[in-house]
Amino acid sequence: LDAYSPIAVLDSGLGGLTVVNALRKVLPHEDIVYFGDTAHLPYGSKSASTVTGFVRQILSFLRPQQPKHVVIACNTATALVLPHLRGEFQEMSITGVIEPGARAAVAAAGSRQVPVIGVIATEATVRSRAYERALIRRRHMAHILLRPTPLLVPMIEEGRSCDDPIVELALSQYLTAMLQKKINVLVLGCTHYPVLKPIINKLVGKDVVVIDSAEQCAQDVAKRLRTRSLLRPLTTGSLAIDLPPQGRLRTFVTDDPKRFARLATRFLGVEIAEPQWVSPDELFTAGDDAAVALRPTG
Ligand code: DGL
Repeated sequence: LDAYSPIAVLDSGLGGLTVVNALRKVLPHEDIVYFGDTAHLPYGSKSASTVTGFVRQILSFLRPQQPKHVVIACNTATALVLPHLRGEFQEMSITGVIEPGARAAVAAAGSRQVPVIGVIATEATVRSRAYERALIRRRHMAHILLRPTPLLVPMIEEGRSCDDPIVELALSQYLTAMLQKKINVLVLGCTHYPVLKPIINKLVGKDVVVIDSAEQCAQDVAKRLRTRSLLRPLTTGSLAIDLPPQGRLRTFVTDDPKRFARLATRFLGVEIAEPQWVSPDELFTAGDDAAVALRPTG
């Protein structure tokens, strides 16, 4: 792999496109390979071993593309599988979305003595306690409130947005207790949620800082690539390279590509080329090969 290799981004569905969007702003010339595991969505209500199996298959599928960095752009997968799979895929550079989000939340809490930090996320992310650990490691004195908000991902994947009354009703129910406890910061602990940011901002009011980790995550990836001298070069010697204004985005999905392409526009603001369909069988085989390679011999 080299500086021209792509950055790989994966999620259970559309949510990781919020990270792609941020990456394209920070690193516009980089090629990106996106994997949306739409056939297995949602991850947020599944067990750690099930999600580990899916993500192992995706990483094995992506490996031949030699990505220079992989972003697990899914809080659920980051919380449940990242430490484990990092060990299995040691040759790949892999990061998630929880650390950048927690870092931004603590920064936003400022100098308050005991800030009240709310986190909304999937059931699996809340159960994993990954956010509590990441926040407390950075800030011992904080009051942390977590709330699973399982209805949001299906509504977003269905194409519902901020102006939908059902979305507003669900959000206001989910946020009531946190607002009564006077949160200072609200972390959107799921990469799907930033598309609902306008209505969330309206419901929490201007005194609550809303953190969406996509932006932080993109900055973090840029820093890592810079440190490893893997940013796509803009010059060769003294000659400027005539780069296209935007790097290539290739998309793979495990369910209906047309539907994904249609909904993706809402996340990226531009149309995307039709994704390539990867059948769950093909994905399973990729994961199986990896599992066989990992099995001790003799
Ligand atoms: N986007 C994923 C996350 O950040 C969750 C979606 C799902 O439940 O599959 O947690």
